[in-house]
Amino acid sequence: MTCPAVKLSTGASMPQVGLGTWQSKDNECYEAVKAALDAGYRHIDTAELYQNEKEIGRALKEKMGAGMAREDVFVVSKLWNTRHHPDDVMPACQKSLDDLGLDYLDLYLMHHPFPWARGDNLLPITDGKAEHSDVPFMDTWKAMENLVDAGLVKAIGVSNFNISQMEEVLTNGRIKPVVNQVESHPYVTCNRMLEFCTEKGIVMTAYCPLGAPGDIADHGLAVLEDPEIKKIAEKHGKSAAQVCLRWQVQRGVVVIPKSLRATRMVENSQIFDFKLTAAEVETINNLNQDKRVYKWEWSKDHPQWPFNEKF
Ligand SMILES: NC(=O)c1ccc[n+]([C@@H]2O[C@H](COP(=O)([O-])OP(=O)(O)OC[C@H]3O[C@@H](n4cnc5c(N)ncnc54)[C@H](OP(=O)(O)O)[C@@H]3O)[C@@H](O)[C@H]2O)c1
Repeated sequence: MTCPAVKLSTGASMPQVGLGTWQSKDNECYEAVKAALDAGYRHIDTAELYQNEKEIGRALKEKMGAGMAREDVFVVSKLWNTRHHPDDVMPACQKSLDDLGLDYLDLYLMHHPFPWARGDNLLPITDGKAEHSDVPFMDTWKAMENLVDAGLVKAIGVSNFNISQMEEVLTNGRIKPVVNQVESHPYVTCNRMLEFCTEKGIVMTAYCPLGAPGDIADHGLAVLEDPEIKKIAEKHGKSAAQVCLRWQVQRGVVVIPKSLRATRMVENSQIFDFKLTAAEVETINNLNQDKRVYKWEWSKDHPQWPFNEKF
């Protein structure tokens, strides 16, 4: 797999296709990460929430023992909602590093702008409502800036932030976020966010780039079954998944499709040998319905919940 990289504002290169690892656990995760590295993936996306950092660390260690250099792989993790208190930020990052067996992360993201109750219960949710804490995300961001100073992370960024929230970080932060990782696929194109990020020199990463087809029964968004996507795929002799990913990389977005299967990992990376026409890109853009798989409605009433604003 030859995968182009995008340049971050720090000057570092980030491979445009990475392996997502949400719902990838235990030995399956270890095998998946090894298979991805064997297939040429050099970008792995994880988070404390996924509870798989030890398995990913095991796979990385094995590959690094077999000749892969640390600097050849771009590792992303995320600060979970229950770790927003400034005193919790460095220990949380250190824990991810220890579990991954690394001495630095290439990128550390604030997973969400809204903070949950401090502690080791990662999902403090009762009767459909999350228990919140009252940390403004700028306080958390300032603690994340210290991670860069301390050399624990090469770069910091955000996830699930809307445009107003990004503006607040850009205005009040000392270090600019290099990435905003948001849900994006043909049913939530995030064109406004992409325009904003491009103007500010920030990279947009698309999570759920296939529309999370394994969970359709829960969310009802059958992106890969969309007739327009299927028509375009047929024309190019590609799969619907490849069309969704190609559309993103063609507009400069980084994609992190998750798979446990080596054949799909290869399929998801073979997207640099065809090009969508301007009309096809327009057709896909027009499928937007601002519909998301992940809305985190447990936090809907929190003032830092990002989805009241369209982006
Ligand atoms: N920042 C955030 O808040 C956030 C939220 C959600 C996700 N993420 C990150 O983004 C990554 C991707 O999102 P996601 O995992 O939710 O959804 P996704 O990548 O859109 O979809 C993953 C699903 O698609 C299947 N799949 C993979 N390749 C396929 C192909 N070529 N054809 C058909 N089906 C295919 C996978 O099944 P198999 O495994 O069986 O192949 C899995 O069920 C996550 O893993 C995580 O790293 C971040």
